[in-house]
Amino acid sequence: MPMRDFDSKDGRMVFAGMDVVDLADRFGTPCYVTDEQRLRENYRNVYKAFSRYMETEVHYACKANTNLAILRVLQQEGAGIDAVSIGEVKACLKAGFSPDKIMYTGVFVSTEELKQVAETGVMINLDSVSEMERLAQIKPGAPVSFRITPGIGSGHGAKVITGNKGAKFGIPKDKVVETYLRAQDLGLNPIGIHAHIGSGGQSVEPFVEEAEVLSELINQIGEAGIDLEFVDIGGGIGVPYKPNEDEMDLGQMASEVTDVFEQNTNVRKIILEPGRYLVCDATILLTRCTDVKDAGTKKYIGVDAGFNTLIRPAMYDSFHYIQNGSKFGKACTAKFDIAGPICETGDYLGHDRVLPEPDEGDVMVVYNAGAYGFSMSSNYNSRPLCAEVLVNNGEAELIREKEQVEEQWRHQIIPERLLR
Ligand code: LLP
Repeated sequence: MPMRDFDSKDGRMVFAGMDVVDLADRFGTPCYVTDEQRLRENYRNVYKAFSRYMETEVHYACKANTNLAILRVLQQEGAGIDAVSIGEVKACLKAGFSPDKIMYTGVFVSTEELKQVAETGVMINLDSVSEMERLAQIKPGAPVSFRITPGIGSGHGAKVITGNKGAKFGIPKDKVVETYLRAQDLGLNPIGIHAHIGSGGQSVEPFVEEAEVLSELINQIGEAGIDLEFVDIGGGIGVPYKPNEDEMDLGQMASEVTDVFEQNTNVRKIILEPGRYLVCDATILLTRCTDVKDAGTKKYIGVDAGFNTLIRPAMYDSFHYIQNGSKFGKACTAKFDIAGPICETGDYLGHDRVLPEPDEGDVMVVYNAGAYGFSMSSNYNSRPLCAEVLVNNGEAELIREKEQVEEQWRHQIIPERLLR
């Protein structure tokens, strides 16, 4: 399937049965709006694709969006969690996940965090020999798995490729067997193996290669006397961000990847950790046109969301499709750059987009904003974090209030002597 698009009614965009201009008027802008039904469908798609072949657990990589309501929807669907920090673990416990549904995978983990995570009772996926040694002291007998470095990388850009040789993540391939044996010697209970090759890859092939590497390691570990219960292939399933771009074939990925494990190993349970795939196209970002400017060589649509609200274009040069929700389907007249209110030239949402002539006050809609949108937003330029809304069956509910300017000073202190 190509990228998801939306309906038009009376020249305005309709998202999950709701008029986007009405949503912007009611909740203010910028504002992230999530379609609950789409979120549920995305989860079911992944689960169904893999569970046809193997016992499957889908662990939502919650770094993509940790809003408690979104976590709760996925909890209701039966999802597990991939968490990377004590903050994420606690958010998921608060949203109702039981500890046995959560796997923690940190990198360069502090002993303090490791102790806190161990106390919650979640499964720990170890990233290094040092972390293993420290956990053996903190929680003797703990069931563990290891993140290994498969030597295969995939992703939408260099900053998000994680599985290549020399990466900061995981146990190098040639150290894996000795590490599992050492874990046993230290009194830990190694029961699984994990890898994550990167994020936003659009082809099946790297996942199959990853499965081959993992299978080989599972067998080497088996020959050394340790039988594993599960294999976790990480996340990284890409989604189309451009109108005519095709979606990666999930059915093909599931069939080919599970086939590798079934043919070559006796591990019968697979875990996946999709972040982007579950939330990306379930959410749009609404941002209002504040100013239209003709700079001679370029025309700008100035909007109220900058890279404080959505950093992906500025940080990764990521493409997000953008439409004018107030003039949806109207004739396009010119090319525009869509840029935000941050005082940096690198603050943009899109370059050279062919769009209808805008009016100030129009609601611009940024597509595919659910993954790493709100969760990477910041207070840069002292702008408050924006609101989040959940839409279901024609009803819209606030799931995060817009922050107030004053809340940004909550933890700041002017020393008394400076006030004298
Ligand atoms: N599992 C592990 C161990 C990960 O490190 C990640 C992502 C995932 C799962 C989920 O990957 P996904 O299915 O979402 O591709 N901020 C970047 C993406 C960074 C991903 C980091 N790790 C972006 O906006 O594209």
